[in-house]
Amino acid sequence: MPNNSIQIAIDGPSGSGKSTIAKALAAKTSFVYMDSGALYRAAGLYITQNNIDPTNEAALMSMVQNVKLDLKYIDGQQRVLLNGEDVTTKARTAEAGAVASSIVGVSLILRKWIVDISRELSVGKNIIMDGRDIGTVIFPNADLKIYLDASAKVRAKRRVAELVALGHEADYNDIFAQISQRDYRDKNREISPLKKATDAVVIDTSRLYKNKVLKRILELMKERGLV
Ligand code: DC
Repeated sequence: MPNNSIQIAIDGPSGSGKSTIAKALAAKTSFVYMDSGALYRAAGLYITQNNIDPTNEAALMSMVQNVKLDLKYIDGQQRVLLNGEDVTTKARTAEAGAVASSIVGVSLILRKWIVDISRELSVGKNIIMDGRDIGTVIFPNADLKIYLDASAKVRAKRRVAELVALGHEADYNDIFAQISQRDYRDKNREISPLKKATDAVVIDTSRLYKNKVLKRILELMKERGLV
């Protein structure tokens, strides 16, 4: 399907600042921000709630045929809907993230399902999408690809602050261990592993303030005539 809209891909490991930067970028431009991780997390939540064995292909086929995943925007904020229920907050927990990370690396059925949904939901929109495989798989021809990175320590501190702000309890050492495991899984899985696209611009956010990262990306967008 021809797609004349502009696509910005932002990839990187958990906690590298992807969503913060992508949201702020969308607010400064007229682009729609899409957090693809929310779809994987909602799928992870459904699997946990329904005790589905992620190695049972028949159960997964039935899931992808019967479950409806959708995104909607309220006051510019993305909400993820699982069979019509808004599960945005439930899906943000570390547990839902860990389940999402462990299942998407083993199931081609789930991966294809969510890749198709991500593309369908973005058709006709100028979009900033963040995730792990946006520049490599979802939008291989994206107009701009950014790979955000940061040290595991910095990312763990950020995740703790984010969870506390959402009213969840969070222990730094636990989160650091979870982030390290998640990095390993995301980078070493067979299906769509997290890796930099060869044409991505790498920005390390460990010591860079949000505004500097934003400024750099906006400069790149201007250089390419995207804003
Ligand atoms: O970005 P996040 O932490 O909310 O994503 C949760 C998990 O979903 C992450 O560990 C890996 C997976 N994911 C993915 O495989 N591909 C994406 N495009 C986005 C997320």
